[in-house]
Amino acid sequence: MSNLNIRPLGFAAGAEVTGLDLCQPLAEADRGAINDAWLRHLVLVFPGQDLTPEQQIAFARNFGELDDHASQAPSTLHPEHREILVLTNKQVGGKPSGTHNSGRNWHTDLSYTERPAKGALLSCKEKPPVGGDTMWANLYLAYETLSPAIRALLEGLEAVHDVTLIKGIEQRDPALVADMKRRNPAVVHPVMRVHPETGRKSLLIGQRIRGFVGMSDEESQSLLSMLNTHATSPEFVYRHRWSVGDLVMWDNRCTCHVALADFDQTKPRVMHRCSLEGEQKTGRIITAAGMGDRASMLQAVAAVS
Ligand code: SIN
Repeated sequence: MSNLNIRPLGFAAGAEVTGLDLCQPLAEADRGAINDAWLRHLVLVFPGQDLTPEQQIAFARNFGELDDHASQAPSTLHPEHREILVLTNKQVGGKPSGTHNSGRNWHTDLSYTERPAKGALLSCKEKPPVGGDTMWANLYLAYETLSPAIRALLEGLEAVHDVTLIKGIEQRDPALVADMKRRNPAVVHPVMRVHPETGRKSLLIGQRIRGFVGMSDEESQSLLSMLNTHATSPEFVYRHRWSVGDLVMWDNRCTCHVALADFDQTKPRVMHRCSLEGEQKTGRIITAAGMGDRASMLQAVAAVS
């Protein structure tokens, strides 16, 4: 048994885990303690863990199957390990990488696929001198603090998640964006979800939602704006200031997050992400047509409703 120590970092989310060397195989007792802490604190920070890609993958596998990132453009993956998505503002092959501005609006990873990620493990390789922070919102608290009337409205409501709503996607290489669209036609997911391990209800919400099934555009936008503002209230948020060697592991089934552009973009920021495959498909593809065009998207939704 190790000297595992867990120290809460925030009320809504976040705890620091020390006393473990993640390069080493994980004892079952430690795996269980980490999983319990993960379910309780949603975002775990393991400082001072200088992991190779192989070590990051091996550690991540303690918590589930890894997503093979079929939803991502191949050039954004680690050249030898497709389980690792490389988020970098450094040039790749003399061009801006396909991830140079990733994560800039509130989202839950892979919500634009039928199987949103169970969780993710992000390892900080390089960071700017200041900024480049990431924030996570606790979506259990977001759900639980809504009025009974709004919670009733959300029961059975579905939202359209659209990859083209990734903020800044239009600044990426057009061929790569076309590839992302082809891989990820719009999907519909329930707005209210039940965590498979804790049984608690939360929201699947964020800024990559086009609208709600059965609502007019105006109704969708008003409700979406209210829910997103509420869900990302400062008291529901943990903000992480990165150090090189931090590994952060978050539960994607009850959080959303945003990577802030609050740094000098000439300074490198490089992160390696493993995504844990979602336990279940909660979404269904609605259409490959009309991507990026709100009117035809809502028409397509109406056709399958
Ligand atoms: C992500 O959105 O998964 C990346 C977060 C980050 O780069 O901080």
